[in-house]
Amino acid sequence: MDRTSHIGEKPKLIDQFGRQITYLRLSVTDRCDLRCVYCMKARPEFLPKADLLSLEELTVLCDAFIARGVTKIRLTGGEPLVRKDILTLIDNLGARIGCAGLKELCLTTNATQLPRYAMRLAEAGIKRLNVSLDTLDPEVFSLLTRGGKVEQTLAGIAAAKAAGLHVKINAVAMKNRNDTHLPDLIRWAHGEGHDVSLIEVMPVGDVGADRSTQFVSLLDMRRQFEAFWTLTDLADDTGGPSRYVQVKETGGRLGFISPLTGNFCAGCNRVRMTCTGELFMCLGQNGSVDLRRALREGGPGEVDRLLDLAMATKPLQHEFDVTPGAKTAVARNMARTGG
Ligand code: 5AD
Ligand code: SF4
Repeated sequence: MDRTSHIGEKPKLIDQFGRQITYLRLSVTDRCDLRCVYCMKARPEFLPKADLLSLEELTVLCDAFIARGVTKIRLTGGEPLVRKDILTLIDNLGARIGCAGLKELCLTTNATQLPRYAMRLAEAGIKRLNVSLDTLDPEVFSLLTRGGKVEQTLAGIAAAKAAGLHVKINAVAMKNRNDTHLPDLIRWAHGEGHDVSLIEVMPVGDVGADRSTQFVSLLDMRRQFEAFWTLTDLADDTGGPSRYVQVKETGGRLGFISPLTGNFCAGCNRVRMTCTGELFMCLGQNGSVDLRRALREGGPGEVDRLLDLAMATKPLQHEFDVTPGAKTAVARNMARTGG
């Protein structure tokens, strides 16, 4: 007997191109204690607090996704750990791992709050964290984050390691800012036992700079690394956009997330929800459905109807362009959509 199909089970989320959506990225707040130059303006306008979904409402919506076959939820932001009482949501979702169809709950964080939270996250059932860290150089870190302290992030990463959490370092490659620092960052991370993913800067949101002045191609970076490292392609087993190689000399794994030089949309398995309940079907496109209104005015049936509408309209791919003078793909920044 097929134990996975029960009478009354809800239909899976399958989009108009036949891609099954099993992964929800949830931006629990668009606020952050840092101001990374590729992510936000120096003085960003944040979403009005009055528009936020409560943690209870977020839990109900996550349950609606889980009932439709979502097996992985990532909490992101902004910085998820600056949202008040976020542990309530984390504990609620953590309690669903295993029994309700949810297989994994993970978190993307800038690590500044981890000395306080790492142990509690592990207790809630989180096993893996993505930590944003673009350089080990204190001055460059401060420039890129507009005032952040690298020691604080490093202390957070150490706390995560001590709590037994698996850490992957995410670094956005920025022309003439941190690109020459990346080999040092990778050596350090691999020495600490952390995987690394490098990310091409994406033209999302107005950050007060032409993206062509920030963009560096990861195809070029990879060629540069090959002058001193032996890179071996690894089989694609993550289902995500990162293409991994093994670095022989450091013994670690290095991923390349290349939305510009290597489109990965064909295998897309994800959607993104903001803290106000807007569901975006693509990071780089404008289409969205309003799950807050559906939940508050229509109830569960209306939420399911909008999820079906979302599947019927999820676009095939983003159309990012970082040539000089090119338009920003979407007006909203990464912190709102969820990085
Ligand atoms: N392009 C690429 N990555 C970005 N991030 C934020 N803004 C951008 C952008 N414009 C990444 C951060 C972090 C995650 C939250 O999103 O580095 O890893
Ligand atoms: Fe904050 Fe992450 Fe955006 Fe940096 S990239 S400002 S850490 S949300």
